[in-house]
Amino acid sequence: MLDEAAAFERAGSVEPDKSLAGKTVANLFFENSTRTLRSFEIAAARLGLRNLSFSAAGSSTAKGESLIDTAKTIVAMGVDAIVVRHGCAGSAQLLARELDIPVINAGSGRHAHPTQGLIDLYTIRKHLETLDGLHVVIVGDIRNSRVARSALGGLAKFDNSFSLVGPPTLVPRSFARHRTVILPSLERALPDADVFMMLRVQRERIAGNAVSSVEEYAHRYCLTPERLALCKPEVIVMHPGPFNRGIEISPDVADGPRSVILDQVAAGVPVRMAVLRRALAG
Ligand code: CP
Repeated sequence: MLDEAAAFERAGSVEPDKSLAGKTVANLFFENSTRTLRSFEIAAARLGLRNLSFSAAGSSTAKGESLIDTAKTIVAMGVDAIVVRHGCAGSAQLLARELDIPVINAGSGRHAHPTQGLIDLYTIRKHLETLDGLHVVIVGDIRNSRVARSALGGLAKFDNSFSLVGPPTLVPRSFARHRTVILPSLERALPDADVFMMLRVQRERIAGNAVSSVEEYAHRYCLTPERLALCKPEVIVMHPGPFNRGIEISPDVADGPRSVILDQVAAGVPVRMAVLRRALAG
């Protein structure tokens, strides 16, 4: 999949093979998105596919129509694949069981964001020229993060080790396993990191008092230039976006030379082209 995406990236705006031209992809987004939805749309257009973008706002879901009924309704109009983002874990699997066409998960609750996971692997491989032997530090709301789960799932298939950093309420001890340690402070993680994956403080998913205050979170866990100066010079800094400047990542780091955040965004198009082609080419 990563090699296919790299071939699409090398081809750039050169017209790719249009063997899928004329097929229709429906993007069913029940949660907000900038990167995922738009890059799926651009990826589909580059493959010559027709896009049907559906958002829950303004649809009949407001009248109580279920996810399955909504999806079946869209499929009945003659679409060839569905891309779905939904707040419930398992929503994409549920649709895949109910529908006879390919279903691509564009983010399901706290559970999985597999195309973001592929993007993260793609970006690491592009910058560090390997997916093996890396120490990856993931910082933040790991408990609620589908991005972290998908990245860990992908990177653990290779010979990597991990440090998970964040408040105990957001980094459950049950995440510790072979080659994965939980560290109480960001300082302990700095010297060994090859890759930082900073996670967004998800105000919409943090129920109750998971963090005492955003200011204290920033004080303890924000990746600042001072902290980055204590890392290896070749370390890369990732964030799936959208990010909170000055909370989990300082503006100077987000916009600085070690940041690959916009490269992750750019990788969204070729990676999702590869995913769409794999799904639709049968
Ligand atoms: N990374 C990501 O999924 O971003 P969006 O929510 O903007 O799609």
